Amino acid sequence: MSAFNHRYKLKVEALGKSFTLHNRGGVRVQGFENVNFSLRCGELLALHGPSGAGKSSILKTIFRTYLADSGSIRFHRNNNPEVDLASCPESHVLDLRRREIGFVTQFLKILPRVSALDAVAYPLIEIGTDEEQAKEEARKMLTQLGIREELFKLSPLTFSGGEQQRVNIARGIIAPKELILLDEPTASLDQKSSEVVLRLLDQLKQRNIAMIAIFHDQRKIEQIADVAVAIGRNEI
Ligand SMILES: Nc1ncnc2c1ncn2[C@@H]1O[C@H](COP(=O)(O)OP(=O)(O)O)[C@@H](O)[C@H]1O
Ligand SMILES: [Mg+2]
Repeated sequence: MSAFNHRYKLKVEALGKSFTLHNRGGVRVQGFENVNFSLRCGELLALHGPSGAGKSSILKTIFRTYLADSGSIRFHRNNNPEVDLASCPESHVLDLRRREIGFVTQFLKILPRVSALDAVAYPLIEIGTDEEQAKEEARKMLTQLGIREELFKLSPLTFSGGEQQRVNIARGIIAPKELILLDEPTASLDQKSSEVVLRLLDQLKQRNIAMIAIFHDQRKIEQIADVAVAIGRNEI
C-alpha cells in the first residue's frame, strides 16, 4: 500500500520535442515545448487542445516511441526504483511496456489474420498467463465492450472503426499496468460504446491505475478526468 502514498506516479517537467525532417533539408518542426504536469495513482489526466498541438507526440514520448529533446518524465514505479522515461536506457523500455506502461493507440495496429480474441489475449500470454485463461479473460473483456461473440474468431481488420477501437482498448488494458496512455479512446465510438469505455476507465481508476488520455469532448473530460491539461502551440 505504501507505494500508493507517493506524491505522484508520473511527473513531467519542462518536456520538449522537435522533429528534424532530414528529407526536407533538415527543417525543424516543433512537436511540443515546456510541458509540465503530474499525476497520482488512480487519477485520469486529460490532455486537450487543437489538432497539431503535440498531444499524441507527448504520449509517444512518455511511451518512448519518441525520445524527448529536453525535460524529464519521472515515473514512480510500484516495485522498482523511479525511472526518468526521457533518459532511461533503451534496454529498460521493453520491460516497462510489458509490465508497467500500456498504450492504447489511436488506431489498431495488428498483423492480418490474427483473430480479435488472440489479439486481445496476447498481452496476457506475453507476461506468462496460461493461454486458456488469457483467452477466457479476453472473451470477458470483448463481451463487456459489446463485441459480438461471432466476431471473436475474425480479424479485427475487417471490423468497423468503432469495433476496431474497442478491440484496441481491450488489448491495451487487459494486462495489469501501473500507467495507461490512451490516444483519443472514444473518438470513433457512438454514445453507448463511449459510455462503456468511460465506465471501464473508471474501474481502472478504482484499481489505482494512473491514466493519461486525449479527449476532444469537454463533457467527457468533465465526466472522467481528475485533471485537465491544455496543450497549446506557442508561436516561435
Ligand atoms: N514523427 C514525426 N515527424 C515529424 N513531425 C512530427 C512527427 N510526429 C509529430 N510531428 C509533428 O508534431 C506536431 C504535433 O503533432 P501531434 O502530436 O500529432 O499533434 P496532436 O496529437 O495534438 O494533433 C505536428 O506539427 C506534427 O506534424
Ligand atoms: Mg493526435
